[in-house]
Amino acid sequence: MQEFIEKINKCPALSELEKIRVEIFGKKGVLAEGFAKLKSMPEDEKKEFAADLNRQRDDLAALIEAKKTELSALEIASKMKSEAVDITLFNEPVASGALHPVMATMDRIIEYFMMQNFSLETGPLIEDDFHNFEALNLPKYHPARDMQDTFYLNDFRLLRTHTSPVQVRTMLANKPPIRMIAPGTVFRRDMDLTHTPMFHQVEGLVVEDGDKVSFANLKSMLEQFLKYMFGDVEVRFRPSFFPFTEPSAEVDISCIFCHGDGCRVCKQTGWLEVLGCGVVDPNVFDAVGYKNVSGYAFGLGVERFAMLLHRVPDLRSLFEGDLRLLEQFK
Ligand code: PHE
Repeated sequence: MQEFIEKINKCPALSELEKIRVEIFGKKGVLAEGFAKLKSMPEDEKKEFAADLNRQRDDLAALIEAKKTELSALEIASKMKSEAVDITLFNEPVASGALHPVMATMDRIIEYFMMQNFSLETGPLIEDDFHNFEALNLPKYHPARDMQDTFYLNDFRLLRTHTSPVQVRTMLANKPPIRMIAPGTVFRRDMDLTHTPMFHQVEGLVVEDGDKVSFANLKSMLEQFLKYMFGDVEVRFRPSFFPFTEPSAEVDISCIFCHGDGCRVCKQTGWLEVLGCGVVDPNVFDAVGYKNVSGYAFGLGVERFAMLLHRVPDLRSLFEGDLRLLEQFK
């Protein structure tokens, strides 16, 4: 039996141990052989031999059990070691994308108006004369309809020149009150430092029954919005003209670069023009069949906001897709 005790002690793996166990305890194993001998043994020797055999059987079984526990622990430990992940290993950074600065700016604007309970409306990029001009009180001879500004399709449809047609569509599809914004792409035949033929606007429209909505409401709403976007700036309303609003205003903020002292960006005026707005013209309400209502509207250029917020000097660079520029906005 000493032979087996040594074998078990030296056994390096569980699979080996199982083979040894079979050699000892199997049907043809040494113990079975020993018990077989018992039958042909003289009576007086039987008892002692059997007792001896039983003791050896119990000892070997205990020894195998102990070895089994030891080897299992070793095998688990080595498996854990071989499968371990070194979380301190240096890894090549994964190239990640990011929102385009214009879209990020748009999101921020949308977020503000969502918080103020405005609904989000959309309309088609290819518009018709009625929605883009006629219903917005743009008479036939208005210069905005000039071929210079508008991209026309062969069938007299056109690429919308502003997001204001969404005002018209939303009013035609809903009863007042209305409290909406319409972010989206617009198109104009224009191209220089501050103009691209494709750009983005966010339109806003608030309509209430009766005469509840005034220019004062518009003014305080926009002041809060512009402070949210640009921080602690001064806001100035300048009388202006839009066919679809009366009275109309253009809105300036104090220059965020020179704080009003005068610089290149504000062309020494100390002010930056950021949006157009006004009280909705009664002719617009007539065109959509609204009676006894009042409202205000505003429209802003998202690129203009993005350029000011990120100090981008040339608008066209925003649309060149140059990674060296875009990666600065991650
Ligand atoms: N639609 C105008 C533009 O594109 C902006 C505007 C919208 C002005 C609503 C007043 C009211 O210039």
